[in-house]
Amino acid sequence: MTSPIKRVAIVGTGVIGASWAAAFLASGLDVSANDVAPGAEVRLRKYISEAWPALEQLGLAKDASRERLTFSGDLETAVKSADLVQENGPEKIEFKRGLYEHLDALLDANVIIASSSSGLTMGSIQSACTKHPERCVIGHPFNPPHLIPLVEIVGGALTSEDTIERATRFYRSLGKKTIRLRKEVPGHVANRLQAALFREVVHLIAEGVVSVEDADAAVSWGPGLRWGVMGPTMLFNLGGGEGGIAHFLEQFTGPMNALWSALGSPVLTPELCAMIAQGATEELHNRPFAQLVSERDEVLLGLLALRNQEFVAP
Ligand SMILES: NC(=O)c1ccc[n+]([C@@H]2O[C@H](COP(=O)([O-])OP(=O)(O)OC[C@H]3O[C@@H](n4cnc5c(N)ncnc54)[C@H](O)[C@@H]3O)[C@@H](O)[C@H]2O)c1
Repeated sequence: MTSPIKRVAIVGTGVIGASWAAAFLASGLDVSANDVAPGAEVRLRKYISEAWPALEQLGLAKDASRERLTFSGDLETAVKSADLVQENGPEKIEFKRGLYEHLDALLDANVIIASSSSGLTMGSIQSACTKHPERCVIGHPFNPPHLIPLVEIVGGALTSEDTIERATRFYRSLGKKTIRLRKEVPGHVANRLQAALFREVVHLIAEGVVSVEDADAAVSWGPGLRWGVMGPTMLFNLGGGEGGIAHFLEQFTGPMNALWSALGSPVLTPELCAMIAQGATEELHNRPFAQLVSERDEVLLGLLALRNQEFVAP
């Protein structure tokens, strides 16, 4: 039997690491953070202070406190006595392999090393560990992890079932919604889904069918609103009426296959990137970055409050 996870080390306190740190503190855990960038500790504490009101709104754990954060620029000091390390370093395979080799040498066998990596497979990272590769797992969050519940869990060939189960229990104990991948694929699941949609968005913009702003509106005021409630298969199940998805497919198999073959496969050339950036600038209507973040977070908190009601969450 392993003891519950009470102390988490965060390695890399950039966009994702800082948000994870806020989430772990709000759940009443001790957090020990590490980053090598100058000014990283100040930026981390500022991020957590700014995120805290939203976390209070979501509900803090009984013992939650920002005072339970410590920071060290030294990796060994930061990970000492951690029960789990959440790694959020740069998305570069050679960097991660070197870091995992080092962490593996430093940490006791029962300490889980979870990577936030958006696209790298654990198999390609953990083979650098000579002692205990079985405790390495992907725990991939969505930005910002202190608000978005999804965590994708997937191990490499060397990851133990025990690690997957302990990581799943841990993230669930924080109120996260976990999904488990049955096999490794680059980009995991949710990023592949995002990429599939974005590919068609880019294709439609490149073909002059729609502006960047209207493509965004088509998603966020249309299917995106529904996707925040139920997944695409369940929604098509409703689209089939009382006959459900079976009836839906009877009716739409032909049109769906035809539409799939009409979808685009654009390539992000410099010209196309410039076109998208220009469209995004127009869509901003001069709103500053901080305003967009607070608009996103305010609406997300409202949606989460609704989704957390028992009748929706299975
Ligand atoms: N940004 C996203 O939307 C997002 C979402 C989910 C997962 N991820 C994943 O999270 C990880 C981090 O991404 P990010 O967007 O936070 O990147 P980021 O560049 O904001 O943060 C990376 C941090 O790692 C630090 N770092 C670099 N070398 C280090 C070292 N040797 N030791 C400790 N810290 C070091 C950097 O100083 C920086 O603060 C990546 O694996 C990425 O795929 C990112």
